[in-house]
Amino acid sequence: MNITVNKSNGLKGNIEIPADKSITHRAFMFAALTKGRVKISNFSKGADCMSTLKIIQNLGCSIEYLNEKELIINAKDAIKKSQSPLDCGNSGTTTRLMMGILAGQNFSCKLFGDQSLSKRPMKRVIAPLELMGAKFIHNDYKLPIEILGTQLKGIDYISPLASAQVKSCLLLAGLNAEGQTSITEPYKSRNHTELMFEYMGAAIQIDGNKVTVSKSQLKPVDINICGDISSAAFFIVAALITPNSDIIIKNVGINETRNGIIDILKLMNANIEILDKRIISNEEIADIRVKYSELKGTTIEGAIIPRLIDEIPILAIAATQAQGTTIIKDAQDLRNKEADRITAVKTELRKIGANIEETPDGLVIKGRTELAGNCEIECYHDHRIAMSAYVAGLICKKPIKINEFQWVDISFPEFLSLMNKISTY
Ligand code: S3P
Repeated sequence: MNITVNKSNGLKGNIEIPADKSITHRAFMFAALTKGRVKISNFSKGADCMSTLKIIQNLGCSIEYLNEKELIINAKDAIKKSQSPLDCGNSGTTTRLMMGILAGQNFSCKLFGDQSLSKRPMKRVIAPLELMGAKFIHNDYKLPIEILGTQLKGIDYISPLASAQVKSCLLLAGLNAEGQTSITEPYKSRNHTELMFEYMGAAIQIDGNKVTVSKSQLKPVDINICGDISSAAFFIVAALITPNSDIIIKNVGINETRNGIIDILKLMNANIEILDKRIISNEEIADIRVKYSELKGTTIEGAIIPRLIDEIPILAIAATQAQGTTIIKDAQDLRNKEADRITAVKTELRKIGANIEETPDGLVIKGRTELAGNCEIECYHDHRIAMSAYVAGLICKKPIKINEFQWVDISFPEFLSLMNKISTY
């Protein structure tokens, strides 16, 4: 699907953003391990989470839809061998977390994925899982990968990466391993696994950047999922850079390991208010009010990077409208996402008229530039590149075309209808 984006006259009104993708993956997978029934309210309908749901069905869970927003996962027995290979689609989270679950089972299975996922590095999880005794058959640490289920033993792993996917993979393997399993990260990555493990009664301890889990059984408790701050980010930046905007986004997760975008935008002089903080299913949420703002440039580096890793493409759009230079460093892992997001953002933003340079581990953006538009954008099969380009299009002088916009369905199939609801033309 190719679309055209026209200049907006401002975003106005209240919206609710669909459920958090990271938390939905975990809710589906962890429910499958409870040997009970779990009601999940407000789950993500993106294709990535649907890949996870399909996999737990193939592993023996049944799904009962109560209505549009609620379902029950029935996992009365332990998961069992799938009759067919398991399709992870485009989803790195599905692959890496499922590898942690599957490595310690008493059966073997095969994981595969689409073209983009089959190029992504899996050594980051295979290497520590092998230290736990896991066995795999693979070619150069890429999908397709065969997992030969076996009894695992705990390890004390010092991770070179701040990655929630690596951490969650090992914690899931640790749930079913002999002894204790610990992982220490250089910086703290998103902690949804730790919060949901606590919520579901696992034996977990947290000490700074070190997390330890012992063999335990997750309990079947109902889970209510908040709105996704990574999806809200597109609307937050759209409102900040489009004159006349004033919006409220309801029920957004503001977990401190995910809300780096709010901290950085506030440093950039953004008018953002966090209203009515509250807790659902062990996660902090709030309503977020955003008004058009005169932004200024900043430097984004170090410990904040994992707290906003998925928001860097949309932060780059904000930076084009900020006075002065914005420097993004320490983000080399962006090259291993659904696309090489450093090169993709630089290439496409240059077409639109931005002043942007690529570095090995980030981007340098000089603002403020008027974006001319009048060009054709590629989204590299990457949902976040597609939505970032759309937001840039809202302030371009001339319309832009975005090719293959259907990639938004990976995380946010409701994006266009919500944007049309609050953007005025
Ligand atoms: C995710 C973790 C992040 C993020 C991804 C989702 C998760 O990846 O980029 O979109 O749900 O754990 P890394 O942990 O590999 O950085």
